[in-house]
Amino acid sequence: MSAGTRARFLGLPSLKGKSPIVMLTAYDAPGAAAAAEGGVDVVLVGDSAATVVLGYTSTREISLDELLMLTRAVRRGAPDLPVVGDMPWGSYEKSDALAVRTARRFVDEAGCDAVKLEGAGPILPRVRAIVEAEIPVIGHVGLLPQAARTDADLKSKGKRAEEAVGIIRDGEALSAAGITLLVSEAMPPRVGAELAARVPIPVIGIGAGAGVDGQVLVFHDLLGLTAGHVPRFVRRYADLRSDAVTAIRAWCDDVRAHRFPQRREEYGMAEAEEERFTRLLDRQGIPGYQPDRGG
Ligand code: KIV
Repeated sequence: MSAGTRARFLGLPSLKGKSPIVMLTAYDAPGAAAAAEGGVDVVLVGDSAATVVLGYTSTREISLDELLMLTRAVRRGAPDLPVVGDMPWGSYEKSDALAVRTARRFVDEAGCDAVKLEGAGPILPRVRAIVEAEIPVIGHVGLLPQAARTDADLKSKGKRAEEAVGIIRDGEALSAAGITLLVSEAMPPRVGAELAARVPIPVIGIGAGAGVDGQVLVFHDLLGLTAGHVPRFVRRYADLRSDAVTAIRAWCDDVRAHRFPQRREEYGMAEAEEERFTRLLDRQGIPGYQPDRGG
């Protein structure tokens, strides 16, 4: 990415001149607020929400309305950050009109600064149509989760020379179609670096090595909120899932052992009011209640 290229950052102005760019996914208001406070440059409301938040087994299962709802929450949580909406599978492929309509919903209904879609080839006309509608587009090459039918399809790409060249060609074609930023997922670092060197827009990698213009990770992966296998490119900076389980277990134990709640977790009532309350109950034929203040 050259300095001249940076001037093309019209849709995501706060990213101008930032290198490396730090992007994180978020799916709700508190997560987006934490991302903003933590210092990320841009938030992506990824369709990874399907698996990490909504409990689906594939990103293909999340609906446009579900993603829009999550995206609105992220916008509320991070009002000052650029927010990218991820167009879900089935919401843009069939026609330019559909792609533009979906992109507009992300902007108008969820306050997005840009939209992301996956792939090149047959998707290029959709990219051009959305760009013509003056909505910034982020491309996505390499591993394309929406194209995966099974977990076995979620493998790194570009390990074979021909496939690596295909990724570069896709990136170049998307760039020529007018995208603002390119996400490159799960490929050898040489391929990521060649891509970044050959396209005039910033390339944000996820498992694409250090030779790109920025990095993106999934919120739940970074914080250790996901159970089970995580991709090789994930680095966990916390283990919040096990912290959560430990905390919830401790609370269950306290409730069952009558250690929760205690006085400091209760609302006070002046003694005189409590006496009046007892008299009122009595007058209305409700026997007075004397709480057992054990603990
Ligand atoms: O949906 C998502 O979270 C993504 C990132 C992996 C880039 O597309």
